[in-house]
Amino acid sequence: MNDEQIDGAIITFFSTSSAVGKTLISINMASELAREGHSVCLADFDLQFGDVGNYLHLQPDYTITDLCDAIKNNNHQDLVNMLTTYSYDDVSFQTVLAPKRLEEAYNLEPETIIEVVKQLRRQYDYIIVDTTSMFSVLNLALLDISTIVTFLGIVDFIPTIKNMKIGNNTLNTLNYDGNKIRLVLNRSDAKTQIKLNDVTQILGENFYHILPNDFAAARQSIVTGIPLVLNDKMGTLAQALRDLVIKYTNKGHDDIAENSSKSWLSKIFN
Ligand SMILES: Nc1ncnc2c1ncn2[C@@H]1O[C@H](COP(=O)(O)OP(=O)(O)OP(=O)(O)O)[C@@H](O)[C@H]1O
Ligand SMILES: [Mg+2]
Repeated sequence: MNDEQIDGAIITFFSTSSAVGKTLISINMASELAREGHSVCLADFDLQFGDVGNYLHLQPDYTITDLCDAIKNNNHQDLVNMLTTYSYDDVSFQTVLAPKRLEEAYNLEPETIIEVVKQLRRQYDYIIVDTTSMFSVLNLALLDISTIVTFLGIVDFIPTIKNMKIGNNTLNTLNYDGNKIRLVLNRSDAKTQIKLNDVTQILGENFYHILPNDFAAARQSIVTGIPLVLNDKMGTLAQALRDLVIKYTNKGHDDIAENSSKSWLSKIFN
């Protein structure tokens, strides 16, 4: 038997505007990976306004607050007992949910949260991380330890595109290896006056993957608590979400960028 410890991959969803689909897509990524038979833990690190529990209709006994307490008390082995299970049919995965009360978020330290992720990745094939739309200390540290960062954008208004441009430029200054950052467009065919070509020119690169707009399907999945990829009636959005997972997993480990040893702090001030 091979006792060698292999850490799971960390796939983080990040954006520079809110309501672009980070939570919906991270839930579907977790669901699809679990459906394929991988062990998965989905972490909601939108600490103040986390939606993973709402979108999946989960009532947690424990939240990230308890996991951080366990780390601080050196009870690392307790972490797996503090996760909340989502299951539908024969698919299931674990979640780390956001604090129950907003004020708890203030007291959580980024280093402790990062330690939670590092411990959990030893137990799961994939850690899927949902974040907020800002370059906070926590988010930068999460980006740093991620295997893949999905930088998500939508084309709706000028400020969103301006923020996407700033975000993309900033991510590029972090000098992550090769294909670690994946630029993904969500709600592609939503009604807008702005042309996709103009956006890719402004950004200076093409989108790695494009997800269609389907308001009814997205709404239905939130109302029922059933992720799109687990629904029997798969529409184009669900199929495009599955295709994204195939792109991330198909080529095996070679497709997943190696983590750089330099910290985010040293990179940003380089
Ligand atoms: N491809 C899509 N087509 C239609 N609606 C979508 C799509 N993706 C997401 N939505 C809807 O957009 C809204 C915002 O999605 P979501 O909550 O996942 O965004 P978010 O980036 O996590 O937002 P926040 O920054 O506030 O956390 C939700 O109502 C969701 O149903
Ligand atoms: Mg969200």
